[in-house]
Amino acid sequence: MILITGAAGKTGKAVLRTLAKQGMMVKALVFRSEQIQEAEALGAKEVVVGDMRNSDFIQRAMQGVNSVYHICPNVYPDELTIGQEIIGAAAAVGITHFVYHSVLHPQIEVMPHHWKKMRVEERLFESGLPYTILQPAVYMQNILVNWENIVETGKYTVPYAVESRISMVDLEDVAQAAAIVLMEVYLNGKQSLHYGATYELVGTQAMSQTEVATILSQQLGRPVIAESVPIDAWERVVRTSGLGDYQVKTLVKMFDYYEKYGFGGNSHVLSWLLNRPTTSFDAFVKRVVEDHVHLEL
Ligand SMILES: NC(=O)c1ccc[n+]([C@@H]2O[C@H](COP(=O)([O-])OP(=O)(O)OC[C@H]3O[C@@H](n4cnc5c(N)ncnc54)[C@H](OP(=O)(O)O)[C@@H]3O)[C@@H](O)[C@H]2O)c1
Repeated sequence: MILITGAAGKTGKAVLRTLAKQGMMVKALVFRSEQIQEAEALGAKEVVVGDMRNSDFIQRAMQGVNSVYHICPNVYPDELTIGQEIIGAAAAVGITHFVYHSVLHPQIEVMPHHWKKMRVEERLFESGLPYTILQPAVYMQNILVNWENIVETGKYTVPYAVESRISMVDLEDVAQAAAIVLMEVYLNGKQSLHYGATYELVGTQAMSQTEVATILSQQLGRPVIAESVPIDAWERVVRTSGLGDYQVKTLVKMFDYYEKYGFGGNSHVLSWLLNRPTTSFDAFVKRVVEDHVHLEL
């Protein structure tokens, strides 16, 4: 049985669906009881509901589990404590594989959510558990939050310079990589080629936001321009929408980093793991456009 934490989130649902489709037995850890039904519909064999910050709950959730796929909620202040508790509980029951959903370049100290993942990775090294660390780049799917706006206004807005170059990855490729890594233990009789490995999961070269807008234009068949919004204007909007102080400050640091240095990586590792080329941003947008057309029919 594979325990997926954060199973009702953006990443969790993609990983859960992919593992279940491949016949793997998944126990989904979700936060709210309203999320049980969706997790079951995606193929979870078992669902546990509770707070990752509660160590008693985590210890109970670990019962009957052989592998863990740990996904911490996005930009979460308690990320390090949660990571420590989950690693400790997994070590206590002696699981055969701990896969940690980290991030590309956790070494970047000025971005607190990256640095906390770095410290969780360190705890994993110290735990003695058989582990694999996955470090995904920025998801292509993040653009979907503003999809309607892009389609309606022809503007793709970002709170950093449009010249900033960023690598992306299709979350579906990340989920398939997760399935490959988790499956290996079962194929190899409790041994895995992926024990002790850290893989950067990058789908594209670093692209400027103008290049991103050009691809959106081509696939949508109408003009889309990239536009930078000032960070204080972005901050005003998200604070009004209820985003927490830690999240806002952390994301401001992240956007500042993107503007100064970009955020790029290399797709060779993911392509090797998937045994095929990674999904391009063009192919991703084409898929989204086709899915939307089907929904409208
Ligand atoms: N987005 C990216 O581009 C990207 C790239 C690389 C790595 N990552 C990493 O991927 C991870 C997951 O990101 P995501 O966007 O998939 O997250 P997400 O959509 O925010 O999902 C987090 C899930 O955890 C639940 N949750 C929140 N607090 C909880 C708690 N205390 N106990 C138990 N569950 C709790 C949330 O429930 P509710 O729905 O009720 O809040 C939600 O279902 C993050 O660590 C992020 O840093 C993201």
